Amino acid sequence: MPLLGAALWLLPKSRPWRKVATPIAVAAGVLSATASFGTQAYPDTYNDPTVDYTAESIARAKKNFAENCVACHGVGGEGNGEMAKGLSVQPADLTAPHVGTHTIGDIFHWLTFGGQSGVMPSFKDTLDVDDRWDMINFLLLLSSTNQSRFMGPRGMIQWLIAPDFSLEDPEDKINLLSNLRGVPTLLSFARCEAPGVDEKALEASLSIAHDTANAAGAHQVTVYQGGCPSSVMGRMAVHPKAVESAYSLIDRYPNETPTNEIAEAHFLIDRSGYVRARFRHFEPGDNMAAQLRDQIAMMAKEPFVVISLHSH
Ligand code: HEC
Repeated sequence: MPLLGAALWLLPKSRPWRKVATPIAVAAGVLSATASFGTQAYPDTYNDPTVDYTAESIARAKKNFAENCVACHGVGGEGNGEMAKGLSVQPADLTAPHVGTHTIGDIFHWLTFGGQSGVMPSFKDTLDVDDRWDMINFLLLLSSTNQSRFMGPRGMIQWLIAPDFSLEDPEDKINLLSNLRGVPTLLSFARCEAPGVDEKALEASLSIAHDTANAAGAHQVTVYQGGCPSSVMGRMAVHPKAVESAYSLIDRYPNETPTNEIAEAHFLIDRSGYVRARFRHFEPGDNMAAQLRDQIAMMAKEPFVVISLHSH
């Protein structure tokens, strides 16, 4: 585009156009400069990931993140690590929604060769290819954590894809969360017998969640730690710790301390695989169960959208 503007300018015949052509050429130049800055494609830009978008992958990355990234990007990824103050370019806030708008290939490129400013080092030698794709899955979820503040019983503004994970199934048919698509799924987390937990209230809440999901025709997957009663359980994860660790990222409100644990939370996943609502607790007599039932009924009637685990 700047070339076209220059050509117009130089052509004698185009003189009457100059008044118009100059601002257009400048604008085009600015636009194309911005565009090429924003959309620069690397050789890796369109690479395919070697690992799926799963909770297990995210949990692996969380460990690598703690070892390799926290010093600059901070424990929660907000860009406020110990080393951040001394750097000439400030580390990005990785919880910001815009991180998820980069192509996954661009992020792969930065992790492999270092950041655009040269301040962020290359991780080619510390993280192998699979580790880097794990990290990208983690980053995609982390950049959605800002949205999780909108997550409530009434549904949320922006939806995020529920990270997939392996399910226990003796018949080996439904061995992934994504196999349950087609019907809404309530994904419930709880830590029974944890210190300071009101066991009675927790068990009552879990049984309300279980009964409501069942009665409304939803699947239920339960990731319960400690001695939760088996009567309130649904399908179980093969790697409950990893699943809890990954989903703890979206359970957290921005002002809460990061942790790998979820005391109690129930995520409602719609029939296409999006996380659509989150309930933190049910009390006998409150209206949360009714809201859950209504949400399930509404989602059961929605059109089914085929989403790929990488359609970010
Ligand atoms: C030495 C400090 C430092 C370390 C360590 C570091 N980063 Fe960065 N990171 C930065 C800085 C500074 C930027 C800002 C732009 C740049 O330099 O590319 C950045 C930018 C990024 C971006 C681009 C964000 C955006 O939206 O533009 C991503 C993604 C990222 N870092 C992820 C990571 C991951 C994952 C790790 C660990 C494997 C890591 N960083 C380790 C300093 C660091």
